[in-house]
Amino acid sequence: MKHYLYKKEKNNFYPVNDEALNIKAKRRLDEILENKETIGVPTRLLKKWDYVALFQSNGDINKANALYILDENSSYDLSNKLNDLTAKEWLSETVTVFSQKGLGASNKDAQIEKQHPAPFSFQDVLRLINFFTKENHTVLDPFSGVASAMKACAFEKRNGVGIELNSNFHELGKERLKNEIPDDFSYKPKQRLLHADSLEYIKKIADNYFDFIITSPPYWNILETLDHKGKQRMNNKLAYKYSEEDKDLSNIERYEDFLDVLSNFFDSCSRILKNEKYMCIIVSDFRKKDKFYTFHADLAKKIEKKNNFKLKGIRILYQRHKSIYPYGYPFSFVPNVHHQNVLIFQNIKK
Ligand SMILES: C[S@@+](CC[C@H](N)C(=O)[O-])C[C@H]1O[C@@H](n2cnc3c(N)ncnc32)[C@H](O)[C@@H]1O
Repeated sequence: MKHYLYKKEKNNFYPVNDEALNIKAKRRLDEILENKETIGVPTRLLKKWDYVALFQSNGDINKANALYILDENSSYDLSNKLNDLTAKEWLSETVTVFSQKGLGASNKDAQIEKQHPAPFSFQDVLRLINFFTKENHTVLDPFSGVASAMKACAFEKRNGVGIELNSNFHELGKERLKNEIPDDFSYKPKQRLLHADSLEYIKKIADNYFDFIITSPPYWNILETLDHKGKQRMNNKLAYKYSEEDKDLSNIERYEDFLDVLSNFFDSCSRILKNEKYMCIIVSDFRKKDKFYTFHADLAKKIEKKNNFKLKGIRILYQRHKSIYPYGYPFSFVPNVHHQNVLIFQNIKK
């Protein structure tokens, strides 16, 4: 007897040994396959349908609304409207700490990324995109730099829109997508990079256009203070700040004004994001002269106060490959900030 129905006992999956129930389960699987679009079965599961069975924790066929994926030993809930992940994949993404993954500085696909002073690793952003969207969803990065988020979207079959003010980064982003995404990837042409001021551009975007927003904005004007890394970049003739343009948020002089502009901008993103969908903002705290700024907390509080977004949690991205510098040694404690905060907001617009 081939098994089409599985249950769970003591955290392990087992086939249900009842022929009549397995026949019923096969029929139900055929129905699911027939209505795959309406139900929203992830394409990757359709591709391995021979390895998919019906699943209900007690083996109750009448309540079964999940699939068991035999070769992954995990289940996928058919009522999952957020992402295409199995239960196992979902749970690991709820742990509040994760480690940065990069290609390595010498990788040929890391050469364009290196020309930006503060890119995120596309593998890290890919994890967040995979958690907060399904295939074919539409994602915005309003401060897209060299298009790391759009590269992840192309790999993961999402439609991406990136907005970047600096023409050099915008061009590098286009080159990156051209060179680093294979031509036969069907979502390569579905990435749009716009050279614009996000604060102005998003006013032209239709209501409820996006399924997810993920971005890392300028961290006020910290790049102006040339630390070790900045000096190294300057010596190597690499960009060490974004631009001199007034519209560039990193050129706002006072921290309080910067926070106001940035939080108002994120609040206005609520309109173009579907309700109940998520926005992830990746930021780190920083030090300027002898003052330490809790940027992540200041920004989170300001955005939440406006009542369009609810803070759902923070994940810490540990940047374990960053060099350690002897700031302050041997006189005082000066931190090497080696983590980013992923602020996770849900749209609860009024
Ligand atoms: C932290 S970086 C983002 C890097 C990006 N995540 C990547 O992986 O390349 C912030 C970006 O915001 C851009 N920026 C600053 N002000 C902007 C504005 N008003 N509109 C659009 N982009 C802006 C900067 O030029 C910079 O590239």
